Amino acid sequence: MSAPLLAMHDIRKRFGGVQALNGVNLEVRSGEVHALVGENGAGKSTLMHILAGVHQPDEGSISWDGKQHVVIANEHAAQRLGIAIVFQERSLFSSLSVAENIFAGRQPVSRWGAIDRRALRANSAALLRRVGLACDPGTPLSELSSAQQQMVEIAKALSLDAKLIIFDEPTAALTETETTALFSVIAQLKAADVAIIYISHRLEEIFKIGDCVTVLKDGTWQGTFAVAQITTDDLINRMVGRALSFARADGGARYGPVVLEVRNLTDLSLEGEVRTRLRGISFQARKGEVLALAGLCGAGRTELALAIFGARPRESGEILIDGQVVDIDSPADAIAAGIAYLPEDRKDAGLFLDMTIAQNVAAARLKDFGSWWFSDARGEAAAEEFRKQLRVTSHGVKQAVQTLSGGNQQKVVLAKWLLIQPTVLIVDEPTRGIDVGAKAEVHALLRQLARKGTAVIVISSELPEVLALADRILVMREGRITGEFKGEDATEEAIMRYASLHVPA
Ligand SMILES: Nc1ncnc2c1ncn2[C@@H]1O[C@H](COP(=O)(O)OP(=O)(O)OP(=O)(O)O)[C@@H](O)[C@H]1O
Ligand SMILES: [Mg+2]
Repeated sequence: MSAPLLAMHDIRKRFGGVQALNGVNLEVRSGEVHALVGENGAGKSTLMHILAGVHQPDEGSISWDGKQHVVIANEHAAQRLGIAIVFQERSLFSSLSVAENIFAGRQPVSRWGAIDRRALRANSAALLRRVGLACDPGTPLSELSSAQQQMVEIAKALSLDAKLIIFDEPTAALTETETTALFSVIAQLKAADVAIIYISHRLEEIFKIGDCVTVLKDGTWQGTFAVAQITTDDLINRMVGRALSFARADGGARYGPVVLEVRNLTDLSLEGEVRTRLRGISFQARKGEVLALAGLCGAGRTELALAIFGARPRESGEILIDGQVVDIDSPADAIAAGIAYLPEDRKDAGLFLDMTIAQNVAAARLKDFGSWWFSDARGEAAAEEFRKQLRVTSHGVKQAVQTLSGGNQQKVVLAKWLLIQPTVLIVDEPTRGIDVGAKAEVHALLRQLARKGTAVIVISSELPEVLALADRILVMREGRITGEFKGEDATEEAIMRYASLHVPA
């Protein structure tokens, strides 16, 4: 076997009371896709931040490209070594253009020392073609969707001509088409002998593109394995320390009356905006029911949620809560009617990053927990209960949300909404970025909420999740409902058939 390009040995890193890394090893070779897996808070991003020069290790050694004991003092040092990272948290500047973001601080300069705008455009356009993003390099970043911004982030990594590119959960915000584009970019990089470190909670991706996989658990190294020689169950066992299965909805659930009814909803076509139009959507959701909206990306599921939540203008149609037509023209109207919505992009979903877990959770129930910046003991106790139930890795509810791992931040957002117990809760991709172990717990919480009487509507692109959670499934395609299944009758194949183009008459 060739000598590794990168060898990290016995890396340790502590943040205050948290030993984030406790003796981790990682060897990566050129032309290899090396997957890195572990539960939320296992230390994956921290290890990558050390490689990217964001953090310094407390102990341990790094050799790189034949050199021993390399110090990666800062992000520029990492770039000079040829290490590029696509961060889990977006790191781009939304006020700058796509091209300026790709070449931030490294713009091509003309003979006179001025920024060479033509070269900037041309180089950016070439990179955008490589990642399959059809947009003008001059577009302000703020006009792109979060998935498109992620592709820009990848284009930026490519522009560095790196020997090693780190992808920290790159597909969490990507559509299926974009994921396919990303995988072909990764295949090209691999063929060009670039080393790739790939972090994802979607284990099927690891088996699809990974050559080997390193497992972390609570900051400790659990071993490195050839992907061809390890099974999914074995991998999960090493990550979580126990076997897991997605329990299927029992089917014996008892529902109450219809609490939400949508009649013939059609939304307004906004001039110039490319999006799915909702056409004649009608359905009902019952008290105590978990209803899933399945479909491919672009099927209109999020648009439907936004229209019900008053965040998208409707052209026609009615929304009834408890049999009464309600006027919903804004999210405030929807909340007043008892409808809560947990959006797909939780970065914008009202997490107060520099406040603690307890304060964030309490903010959802101001009137019950007193003033929210000064959360009382009761609020803390409730937050602590959620922290345990969702297994948020932190040293208590007084840790600032900012210092939690990505997946743990998402659990806090979820806890907030679960506490409100609305009449109708719509959750959009509730387990995105959440590890396999905690997924089962999120599912249990959503079911528990339904048992307490909320109608839970789940939008999910992961079919195993839809099948595990839903009492009933509505399949959408191109802004219409094309199929309906009882949870126990549905199969992945049947859902896919209704979600894709060939709908049987
Ligand atoms: N700047 C920081 N200050 C304090 N604690 C931190 C800091 N950065 C990370 N941690 C802690 O270190 C641990 C490891 O976090 P890390 O982000 O590496 O996890 P991860 O494996 O990437 O998880 P995820 O899958 O959720 O992204 C967590 O307990 C986290 O709260
Ligand atoms: Mg992470």
